[in-house]
Amino acid sequence: MIPFIDLDKQYISIKKEIDNAIQNVISQSAYIQGPFVKTFEENFSEKLGIKHCIGVTSGTDALTITLKALNIGIGDEVITAANTFIATSEAITINGAKVIFVDNDEYFGINTKLIEEKINSKTKAIIPVHLYGQSVDIIKIQEICRKYNLLLIEDCAQSHFATYNNQYTGTFGDAAIYSFYPGKNLGAYGDGGAIITNQDSLAHKIRMYCNHGSPEKHVHLIEGTNSRLDGIQAAILSIKMKYIDVWNQKRFEAAAKYIKNLSKCNNIILPQIRPLSSHVFHLFVIRCQNREKLQKYLLENNIQTGIHYAKALPFLDCYQHYNHKTSEFPMAFKNQDELLSLPIYPEISDEQIEIICNTIMKFYSL
Ligand SMILES: Cc1ncc(COP(=O)(O)O)c(C=O)c1O
Repeated sequence: MIPFIDLDKQYISIKKEIDNAIQNVISQSAYIQGPFVKTFEENFSEKLGIKHCIGVTSGTDALTITLKALNIGIGDEVITAANTFIATSEAITINGAKVIFVDNDEYFGINTKLIEEKINSKTKAIIPVHLYGQSVDIIKIQEICRKYNLLLIEDCAQSHFATYNNQYTGTFGDAAIYSFYPGKNLGAYGDGGAIITNQDSLAHKIRMYCNHGSPEKHVHLIEGTNSRLDGIQAAILSIKMKYIDVWNQKRFEAAAKYIKNLSKCNNIILPQIRPLSSHVFHLFVIRCQNREKLQKYLLENNIQTGIHYAKALPFLDCYQHYNHKTSEFPMAFKNQDELLSLPIYPEISDEQIEIICNTIMKFYSL
């Protein structure tokens, strides 16, 4: 079986370091906050060239807490992509704001040409999502945010260290969020997330909020919550940070092999690389004819695949009350029946890629 993702292969390759790191946390009983979290936060923000990184429990919490700290709530509207994971829109509505979806472009990013028509006096922020590992046209979004005085929060859950115009995603806006869910390019061994920002007061507020509104023991300036990256996850992430550039490069090379091998297959549309963007290929997503049959055929031939995502957000049951029409989001609507994610990870072999490509071509020649 060629698995969709192979976390064990990666663990085996760094087993000694990971086991030691976990053992160190246990020896020091540094489970909550403490030196391992501090070191990881420093490593992460230093690599990004950002002043503050606050480790939290998940990417979902990172989004929800960032919006809360930026006072986004009832009566506000927040613009985001129609084609993303539900965590992005949940964070908006859970804070009491209204989510305004925008269709995607041919690179699967939010279509910047369609954003301005959705802005009104209630609009407070834009959350672009660097989906599948590739930056959106973030400079254009930065310009829009400046023009209309909107907050910019980047969702980098899938784009660890991807760049646009040689600048890391996550460093363009007021704040950015990351997920360290195990399958992410930089993944923990459980849930984890982070918020980054250059703004001192925002960082202070977020850090306090994530720790029950407490800047120091027995002092609670505001009511907050418990959302802290734990020591074991932070220690694991610090080890993995040493390899992230090499791993991202390997993902890129794997994608290049797919693109080369599948370029002659007329039944699929390969992912395109946006000008000025470096792609870290969190996912390798093709658009294909007869998606369900192809997926079934691949599985019969021992190849696991994924679908990201089976329904664009405006068409999910939980957003039926918005009464969105499919014609409002033609790209997202069309894509949802065509998208297929092929296995991609740093450890995937040339041979595995070849088998997958040959099986796809065989399917279309039947
Ligand atoms: C685009 C996007 N945003 C947010 C999240 C939420 O991250 P987490 O699973 O760590 O809560 C995810 C996770 O899959 C995601 O893909």
